[in-house]
Amino acid sequence: MNFEKELEHRTKEVETIVKSYLPEESGWAKTVMEAMNYSVNVGGKRLRPMLMAETYRLFGGADKVIEPYMAAIEMIHTYSLVHDDLPAMDNDEYRRGKKTTWVVYGDAMAILAGDGLLNYAFETALTSFEMPGSSVAAKAKALSILAKKAGIHGMIGGQTADIEAEHLGGSVTKEHLLFIHEHKTAALIQAAMMAGAVLADASDAQVQIIEQAAYEIGIAFQIQDDILDVTSSLETLGKPVGSDARNQKTTFVTLKGIEEASREQKELSAHAIELLASFEKEGYHNAFLIELIRSLITRDR
Ligand code: IPE
Ligand code: IPE
Ligand code: MG
Ligand code: MG
Ligand code: MG
Repeated sequence: MNFEKELEHRTKEVETIVKSYLPEESGWAKTVMEAMNYSVNVGGKRLRPMLMAETYRLFGGADKVIEPYMAAIEMIHTYSLVHDDLPAMDNDEYRRGKKTTWVVYGDAMAILAGDGLLNYAFETALTSFEMPGSSVAAKAKALSILAKKAGIHGMIGGQTADIEAEHLGGSVTKEHLLFIHEHKTAALIQAAMMAGAVLADASDAQVQIIEQAAYEIGIAFQIQDDILDVTSSLETLGKPVGSDARNQKTTFVTLKGIEEASREQKELSAHAIELLASFEKEGYHNAFLIELIRSLITRDR
């Protein structure tokens, strides 16, 4: 397998699916739809829908029913970025190589576009009930996972703790930081992979292992995000570097230094791969998924 080529090919497939679910821009509320579509269309790695599709595939899923869920998770993720970039939050002007939604459309419309994407994600996922593939129970469970992991016990909770920790400076402990990273970042990665597993009819025990693996992938992913905020450039990353320092964030880099942060990130990722590889003895294998996770350690954007 030529991983780079395959990644490019699969990213395009995910891109096409996500875009096919975006709302039509029309009527008196057209501006919010334009701002929603702008935020999603500007690009991004499409990691969460890809992880969802590949976990679905790992457990033998092969129906189109996964597609509205893939679009939904990317809408939720994109809304979290639109709000994260607002002046009242991280106050960033670039995202995915383009001006952020609030810079282009203004704060009010960026807030509404975020709200719109979150709600439209659930409108979109609910269309799966009219599609063949997966039981009604599995669809309901996948929806419940999406709702919970995006909410106050998931991403929103993590963003809350992240914002409040800005004022705490050096007193943020590793345990506190792990709470932030688990919730603001790992939760949506867990949602993506767990929903993929559930829709492919994986057992509760298997979904639990996926939840743990996705936790490790998520923490590793945020550690690399923290590292790139120090070592990368706006051109490569598509978003400003130095945002964390400017906002006085405690990150894995401020807490441990780049070398130790990088070591912990590799350890987490290796263990997540071990967990995923353990399904092989039950007859479930997805080589691309494993390579995808391996590639995240050295990603430069
Ligand atoms: C950025 O996520 C926010 C974090 C949780 C670190 P991504 O790095 O996946 O952003 P896109 O989707 O590729 O733009
Ligand atoms: C945000 O973490 C994670 C979200 C839930 C949006 P960051 O604030 O570090 O994400 P970036 O670096 O702006 O993408
Ligand atoms: Mg932030
Ligand atoms: Mg940010
Ligand atoms: Mg960051």
